This record gives sequence, C-alpha cells and structure tokens, in this order.
Amino acid sequence: MSEQRMLDKKIVVGVTGSIAAYKAADLVRRLQDEGAQVRVVMTKAACEFITPLTLQALSGYPVATDLLDPSQEASMGHITLARWADWIVIAPASADTISRLVQGRSDDLLSALCLASESPLAVAPAMNNKMWENQATQDNINILQSRDVHIIGPGSGIQACGELGEGRLIEPLELIAELARLMVPAKLQGKRVLITAGPTYEPIDPVRFIGNRSSGKMGFAVAKAAIEAGAIVTLVAGPVHLTTPNGVKRVNVETAQQMCDAVMTDIEQFDIFVACAAVADYRPEQIESNKIKKTQSANLQLNLKATQDIVSTVAEQKTRPFIVGFAAETQSVTDYAQQKLQRKKLDMIAANQVGDGVGFAEDDNALQVFWESGSEVLPLAPKTQLARDLMTLIIERYDAKDST
Ligand code: PMT
Repeated sequence: MSEQRMLDKKIVVGVTGSIAAYKAADLVRRLQDEGAQVRVVMTKAACEFITPLTLQALSGYPVATDLLDPSQEASMGHITLARWADWIVIAPASADTISRLVQGRSDDLLSALCLASESPLAVAPAMNNKMWENQATQDNINILQSRDVHIIGPGSGIQACGELGEGRLIEPLELIAELARLMVPAKLQGKRVLITAGPTYEPIDPVRFIGNRSSGKMGFAVAKAAIEAGAIVTLVAGPVHLTTPNGVKRVNVETAQQMCDAVMTDIEQFDIFVACAAVADYRPEQIESNKIKKTQSANLQLNLKATQDIVSTVAEQKTRPFIVGFAAETQSVTDYAQQKLQRKKLDMIAANQVGDGVGFAEDDNALQVFWESGSEVLPLAPKTQLARDLMTLIIERYDAKDST
C-alpha cells in the first residue's frame, strides 16, 4: 500500500441529505485506508438516503445523529466530538446544510458541532445544478470561504435529476487527494512549479499534423502530485482529453513553438520545471495553406526542420529553475538518459522505456531517475503513484541543491 497521508488524523465525516450520500461509504473507507480515524455524523435527511448502520459498520463506531440523544451526549456528544476532531469534512453537503452553516445554526448535531469546533472544516457540496448556480448558494459559498472553510468541488456532469452541469459531489478519490493536500505538511508550500504534458501537433496542412502517442497522463499526474505537495502549479498541456487537476492553472497549446512560448513566459518566476511533454523534435518546414492533394506519384516528400529544444532553452537562462527532464527511449534507456541529462544540462532526468504497449498512454509506468550523483528505480505503478514518488525525489534533490 502507498504511504498513508492521514496517519492518525481524527476526522469527523458529516453526511447530509443528498442522493450522493451513498458515496460517503466509499469516502469513510478511503479515509481509513489513508490512516485516519473516522467518526460519522448524519443529519436526519441523510438517514433517508443511507442507513446509519452502513456507516457504523464501515467506521466501526456508532453513528451520531441526534443533538439531544442522552446516550450520545454521554459518549460522543457535539462538544466532545468538536474537541476530538482534527478535521470536519461534510460530504455530501446539501444546499440546506451550507445555508445553515452560514447562519451559524445549532439546532441539529452537525451544525452544532461545526459551531462548537475550532478545527478546520471542509465542505464538499452536492446538489442540483440550478440550486448550485443560484445566487443565494453562491453567496453562501463566498461567505464560507471568507471564514476559511475549504470548499472542495463540486464536480460536473450528468446529475441524479437528469440535468447536466455543476453540482455533483466530487469523486471520493479526488476529495481525498484534496484533503491530503490540505492536511499534509506541504513540502513545496509557496513554490512555483511549471510542468509540460502531452504531445505536440505539428501541422502539415489545414487537416493533417505530425503527432505522437502521448496521452498527457504522466504529466497531469505530476501536476497533481505537485499540488498535493503544496506547490502553485502551472501546466502547459498539448492536445489531450484530460480533466485539469484541482488547483492547477492550465495553459493549452498545440505546437512545439507554442509550448516553448508558453514555457518561456515568466520562466524566471518558477522554482521547478518538469518537462514531461513529448515534444516534436521536427516540424514541417512549410505549412501548406490548402489540403495537399493526392497525386499520381508514389512518394510525397516533406521537408522537416528541427524545433526549438524547450528544456535546453530553459537550462540556458541566467536564473534557471530546478530542471527535471524526461527521456522516452525504445532502447539503451540508461545510456541515452544519462547523455540527455548532460547534454541538456538538467538537474534530473526520469527515463522510461516506451513502445510495444509501455510508457505512452498506459495507466501504469516505471521510471529510472538519474541525477549527477545518483539514481533510483521507481518500479511499475499507476502513474498517479509514480508521480508522487517522483515528486518526493524531486523535493529531496531540490532541497539538497538549494542548501549548497
Ligand atoms: O503522456 P503519457 O501517455 O502518459 O506518456 C508519458 C510519456 C512517455 C510521454 C513521458 O513519460 C515521457 O517520457 N515524456 C518525455 C517524452 C519525450 O519527448 O522524450 P525525449 O527523450 O524525446 O525528450 C527529452 C526531453 O526533452 C523531454 O523532457 C522533452 O520534454 C524535452 N524536449 C524534447 C524536444 C523538444 N523540442 N523540447 C524539449 O523540451
């Protein structure tokens, strides 16, 4: 199992009346997998959607539902729970609960608990998209944020009511990642990290391009890992179909030149640059303004011109960030990666074997990471996990370089 990011954290999960209440079961399990101790509080409306027994069985403790239940007041009443909790997480949080928090109500257990607690509060809204968009809800959210309540989500998509839009409870895994980011001492707090991801498309004519098989998964996972480490993250993404990780500033580009321009804008402001994109090494010298017509000739010749090497351009800057390159190789991975580390003047390089169904587009990957004085193998794992392990190495080497 991966590192437990919430080891011994005491978390009260508040569940309120929403069709998404069933997802609280998954959330409770995953919080425990992360090492957290969990107690559950449910509102009356929540009990209409999922039984307290389910969450009791999962959390291993009685679920608190009533403010004025003598048995619960004797054990884990609202004051005791308020003192016990390191964090309170309300998921799903209905529009009604959000409005009650704003008003400072205390006529049910969950609202009284929130009022009595000094612990950080995270709220994951879930409601119909019109209710979410309503100015009253938006004003309530703004008020909560101004009181340092962490609003996580909502997500968007098809809703239980059949409508499409924002208002779905964020998926438990994403919620956990965001909570972990908020809870774990952030090693890159305040640091600016720039990441490139995905392929580039180099146009031949208005309908054709030269591209490659990069899906962006690895680079997006690195962006997420950097966010989890507390960094301020900008992601320059080639043409991919991936959702931007929460909290990441995304800049979309298509060609190598556009990627280079986006990277070089404000490059001096970044502390770390991770070049994960599969950038075209060559582009058509000339882009035809009309579609190239098929002729009788068996061959068609395209003149290609080298693109600008982005990572090397960054390395030539007077004040340069800590630079991590990637190397995608089909053979002699170690040799080629080490040559690239030197030639491109990188601080670190993460090499992967690609081709034959590995590296590109897959969910899993393996990396060999090299720096001037050492190396480490990161064995086959989901790219999300691999990115976290890579980020741990980057932080170690970045700190070591910073202190010399
Ligand atoms: O996106 P996925 O489907 O998840 O796949 C992940 C990946 C295989 C694309 C990723 O793990 C990876 O290896 N990315 C680097 C791909 C690549 O272009 O490698 P390279 O060996 O050709 O380039 C070496 C380094 O120079 C890279 O950091 C690259 O971003 C950079 N480069 C290359 C050309 C160029 N013009 N400018 C550059 O900055």
